[in-house]
Amino acid sequence: MLKIAVLTGAGVSAESGLKTFRDSNGLWEGHDVMEVASPQGFHKNPALVLDFYNQRRKQLLEVLPNAAHHALADLEKDHEVTIITQNVDDLHERAGSSNVIHLHGELLKVRSTFDESLILDWKQDLNIGDFCEHNHQLRPHIVWFGEAVPLMEVAMDIVARAEVLIIVGTSMQVYPAAGLIQYASYNTSVYFVDPNPSIRSSERVTVFAEKATTGVPKVVAALNS
Ligand code: APR
Repeated sequence: MLKIAVLTGAGVSAESGLKTFRDSNGLWEGHDVMEVASPQGFHKNPALVLDFYNQRRKQLLEVLPNAAHHALADLEKDHEVTIITQNVDDLHERAGSSNVIHLHGELLKVRSTFDESLILDWKQDLNIGDFCEHNHQLRPHIVWFGEAVPLMEVAMDIVARAEVLIIVGTSMQVYPAAGLIQYASYNTSVYFVDPNPSIRSSERVTVFAEKATTGVPKVVAALNS
C-alpha cells in the first residue's frame, strides 16, 4: 500500500467534454477569464458571472467521468490515495474517489458574500436576489484569480508525505497550485500525464505525453506491477 497524492487539472476532464482553460488562448467558453473569474469581474457585472457559472453547472450535470477518473478511483483499492484537484467539477467524486480536495472550489456549491464559511450545496441556477440566511447575495464557491487558496496548506502537507505523486492534465501555470510539486520529497516518484507536458522526464519523473484516458491507466498499471 503506497501513499499516493494526485494533482489534477482541467486536462483530466477534457475527454469528458469540459474545455480546458489555456488550450483556447485564454478564452474560457468565449470569455476573458478575468471577466468571469475574478472578484473585480463579479463586482463589475455580477449577472454575467452568475450566468457564466450557471452555464458551467448545467454543462457539468450533462457530462460523465471518463476512464482517467475511474482509474484514479480504482487506485484506492490498493493504496492510500488523496486527489488534489484544481478542477471545480465533481467528476472525481462521481467516479468513486473518496478523498478529494478542491483547491479552486466547487461548482456545485455556493457561499455567502457576507460569511465565506456559510457554504451550501447548489445544483440549480444561482441568480441575483438569491440570498443567504443573513440576507446577503450568494456567490459561486469558486476561488477566483486574486483570492486566497484556503486548502493550500492541507495540499502541501499531503504532497510532502506522498511516496508517489501523479500529476494529470495541468499546464502548471497557475500558482500556488503549480508550486505543489516543490513540496514532494526527493525520493517521491513523480508521474506526469499530459499530451503537452510542461515537465521533462528525469531520474524521478516519468512522463506519459498522452491523453489522460490512456496515460493514467498506464501509471496505475506501473504502480500495481
Ligand atoms: N488529457 C490530459 N491532459 C490534457 C488533455 C487530455 N485529454 N487535453 C488537454 N490536456 C492538458 C493540456 O496540455 C494542458 O497542459 O491539460 C492542461 C490544461 O491546462 P489549463 O487549461 O491551464 O488548466 P489547469 O492547469 O487546470 O489550470 C489551472 O487555472 O484558470 C485557472 O482556476 C483555473 O484551475 C484552473 C487553473
